[in-house]
Amino acid sequence: MTTETTEHLATTHRTHLCGALRLSDAGSRVRLGGWVHRSRDLGGLTFIDLRDRAGLVQVSFDPRTCPPDVCATAANVGLETVVLIEGEVVARPEAMQNADLATGAIEVRATAMRVVGPAVSPAIPVARARNENLAAEELRLRHRFLDLRRPELQENIILRHRLMQVTRRFLSDRGFFEIETPILTKPTPEGARDYLVPSRVHPGEFYALPQSPQLYKQLLMVSGFDRYFQIARCFRDEDLRQDRQPEFTQIDVEASFIGQDDIIALSEGLIGALWREAGFVIPPTFARMTYADAMERYGSDRPDLRYDLELFDASDAFRAADFGITRSALEQGGRVRGLRIPGGAAALSRKQQDEIEAEAKKAGAFGLLRIKMVNGALEGPAAKFLGEGAVAQLGLNEGELALLVAGPDRISSPALDRVRQDVARRMNMIPDSVLRFLWVTDFPLFEHDQATGALGAVHHPFTSPHPDDIALLDSAPQKARALAYDCVLNGTELGGGSIRISDPNLQGRVFRLLGIDEATAQARFGFLLEGLRAGAPPHGGIAFGFDRIAMQLSNAGSLRDVIAFPKTTAARALFEGAPSPVPTQDLDDLHIRIQGDTA
Ligand code: AMO
Repeated sequence: MTTETTEHLATTHRTHLCGALRLSDAGSRVRLGGWVHRSRDLGGLTFIDLRDRAGLVQVSFDPRTCPPDVCATAANVGLETVVLIEGEVVARPEAMQNADLATGAIEVRATAMRVVGPAVSPAIPVARARNENLAAEELRLRHRFLDLRRPELQENIILRHRLMQVTRRFLSDRGFFEIETPILTKPTPEGARDYLVPSRVHPGEFYALPQSPQLYKQLLMVSGFDRYFQIARCFRDEDLRQDRQPEFTQIDVEASFIGQDDIIALSEGLIGALWREAGFVIPPTFARMTYADAMERYGSDRPDLRYDLELFDASDAFRAADFGITRSALEQGGRVRGLRIPGGAAALSRKQQDEIEAEAKKAGAFGLLRIKMVNGALEGPAAKFLGEGAVAQLGLNEGELALLVAGPDRISSPALDRVRQDVARRMNMIPDSVLRFLWVTDFPLFEHDQATGALGAVHHPFTSPHPDDIALLDSAPQKARALAYDCVLNGTELGGGSIRISDPNLQGRVFRLLGIDEATAQARFGFLLEGLRAGAPPHGGIAFGFDRIAMQLSNAGSLRDVIAFPKTTAARALFEGAPSPVPTQDLDDLHIRIQGDTA
């Protein structure tokens, strides 16, 4: 994992890294610095496993070669104490070699040792092997500085560093300039909540932390920088999940005089370079699927293509059925859609099917219809309502189980997406070590808010309509497609972007469709509109979730395992204790008064 040579790391205190010593160093006198990982006393002979970020090395303190005071210090040193030692590297006799340790062919025979960083008894064990003795995550986050001594986390953070350098080199080599944009910005809506920062010198006014550098990067295109990137910190006060952090990092890219295919090709190159850095070879181009196709076939705009299980339309089988649930769904313009699960009739017990139904309900379905094909006949509570032609219309093979949801697509799609993922997991259909990259394109420009009926932007309000759909903006805006694209890997959205609106009149029209009147548009986005009126090139870009990429490439189970100091799912930093109350005097200075009971 480490790529540096020892010479770069030699200092006045040490000559080598502990974990980097090899048989070829036998005979060398070395000075090492590290943490006491473990110590053993074998009748006067003390062994210490000394650890630094390169690994462990065994250090022996033998009364025959080591001064008595040094042996005594070694025998009593506490775990996780930082020591400096001097000694000689010696080859271990064959029988004493440890093949599990990179330094296992040698040991260091100490002649001197100094305790430089005494340690209190560690609050959590510093595990050496993957998942060895891991304390509860909350406790580990509370003592993050100790948990970060774990080789697994150190590897993740070092890989993250390398991925960052690859990103910089790749984009810089292609004429992209790394330009920083402000952290104290103007509040703008991007589908999630802003973190606000009160201004002390302007009472009652606030900055927002950027949800993304979106508007700044567009303005850089207006200014003529042509190609921009930033490894940008973004902040979003939204409900957290395993793949979301309130503060996260994007590889943010924007370019002028480009189209969708240019951004896609550039991104494929960048993703290829990043995956190569972590030792994977991936296809030079990724599959593409339109949003409409993805929703029809998988019920999701980020389908996991590692397994088949495509959705099908079972409506025809139910048209003549005297079955209340499906009849009312069909009468109201909905459909009956579902999945055919090969072998599912036998493999999924009734209890498991009930659990899958519970998932479907959580995702908004009223229920899950089950029909199976056993001994050439359809079985299941709904089967008796079906007519002669249903067998052919359902297309079920022997042993297949169909799980169906009746209703409008907006209900059946998310429910069946959830069912599809749940079934694939339960039936071990998800192959390890398969990478299925996918571009999802042609997103709708707008979506309807179910509660208010108002139009909202699917991506963000600066996304260009598809040129073929401009006429729809007047007649049927909800049908207009956008020049927006997402990059998906195995069901996770790695990144997303779009070609932007560069015509200020079109931007104004889109604002109006979104219910943003002239005055509001001026107040919120006046600087963007002014910029677009000042001569804007056609431009577009993309942003990749850098933490998500690092998580995929280090095979980590959570974003927290690739971020040095992450937040919990409750958006708390446990180790430093943020957020926290502040003295009333500080609030007064910021012209802020806390209302009500916040306990
Ligand atoms: P978007 O909102 O899709 O696009 O974000 C881009 C990518 O950022 C990652 N991401 C997150 N990662 C961790 N925690 C989060 N809370 C989080 N939210 C998003 C995802 C996502 O695909 N300005 C546009 C980009 C553009 O149009 O150029 C934007 O921010 O991987």
